[in-house]
Amino acid sequence: MYEQHFGFREKPFSLTPDPAFLFLGAKHMTGISLLRYGLMNRAGITVLTGDIGAGKTTLLRQLLNETGEDIVVGLISNTHESFGNLMQWVAVAFGLPVATDSKALLYEQFAQFLIAQYAKGKRTVLVVDEAQNLENRSLEELRLLTNINADKDQLLQLVLAGQPELREKLQQPSLVQFVQRIAVDYHLRPLGPDETAQYIDHRLITAGGPAGLFDPVACRFIHYQSGGVPRLINAICDTSLVYAYAAGEQRVSVQTVFDMVIERVSSGLFGAGILDFSGLAADSPAELRKKGLERARRRASLFLRRANADLGLGKINKPDGSGARA
Ligand SMILES: Nc1ncnc2c1ncn2[C@@H]1O[C@H](COP(=O)(O)OP(=O)(O)OP(=O)(O)O)[C@@H](O)[C@H]1O
Ligand SMILES: [Mg+2]
Repeated sequence: MYEQHFGFREKPFSLTPDPAFLFLGAKHMTGISLLRYGLMNRAGITVLTGDIGAGKTTLLRQLLNETGEDIVVGLISNTHESFGNLMQWVAVAFGLPVATDSKALLYEQFAQFLIAQYAKGKRTVLVVDEAQNLENRSLEELRLLTNINADKDQLLQLVLAGQPELREKLQQPSLVQFVQRIAVDYHLRPLGPDETAQYIDHRLITAGGPAGLFDPVACRFIHYQSGGVPRLINAICDTSLVYAYAAGEQRVSVQTVFDMVIERVSSGLFGAGILDFSGLAADSPAELRKKGLERARRRASLFLRRANADLGLGKINKPDGSGARA
């Protein structure tokens, strides 16, 4: 829709995890380096955790893109129990037949598969995304799979990625044996303010557009509203581009982002985390919402005043949302 207007080859802020857009700021760089390290050093279990939308799946996809012929990878991306037993998922991940639901037979089949790969000089890696959904029982089953060995070599490496509940789950005493086998682990944190601006520029350039399309205060404001979480940054940037396009603008000003965020929060579908109702008293839910929204607007205005002062741009962007477009 707005691609032509801004000169993009494709949409810069899609919500799918696409390694072509990979941005390696300090945090993601450490994350991918540790994943590579775990893979190369034959770590039994590698664990990547991070907040929702922080970029775990993106890093896993990048890792999988990099693996050579000597590594056989199986990927499980949905671990919900209602989808069947774990051994069936493991079989599917490696393209093995699932002719039975007997765990013992599936285990045996998989052990044979591991031995055959080993005989061919290949290593086998099972990657489990969304691992926060795994039951303790399944984690224990995975641990047992990493016990399968030939001579002194362990035949299966595990890479698990999941939301913070995975980390909490692994702290339970019953999983101590599992945890002792984790050789590498990393928690992916959201981007900082400067990194957010770099991330935005990186995606703009990768999509064939100009860097600096979002003005510096707009980038600060996007960091403030998204908490630095890439998926939320993408959502805010994408919608801001639509608003800027509709207004016939060539750059995205903080005014546009501010108007968009307030409008979408008001309409109720966006920014659940932005509204804070704590300590507010009201006679009806509608009044409570109104007060929450007023508070969000006040806080955003205050934030912008500070960001403008910080960046020495106070004269360009009016902080109260009423100023001329920058
Ligand atoms: N380092 C990065 N470079 C480029 N884009 C990124 C990066 N990290 C995250 N993103 C983008 O943010 C969005 C969310 O990323 P991703 O799906 O990888 O997050 P996640 O941590 O797996 O989320 P969930 O907890 O929901 O599984 C995607 O659109 C992805 O393209
Ligand atoms: Mg994911």
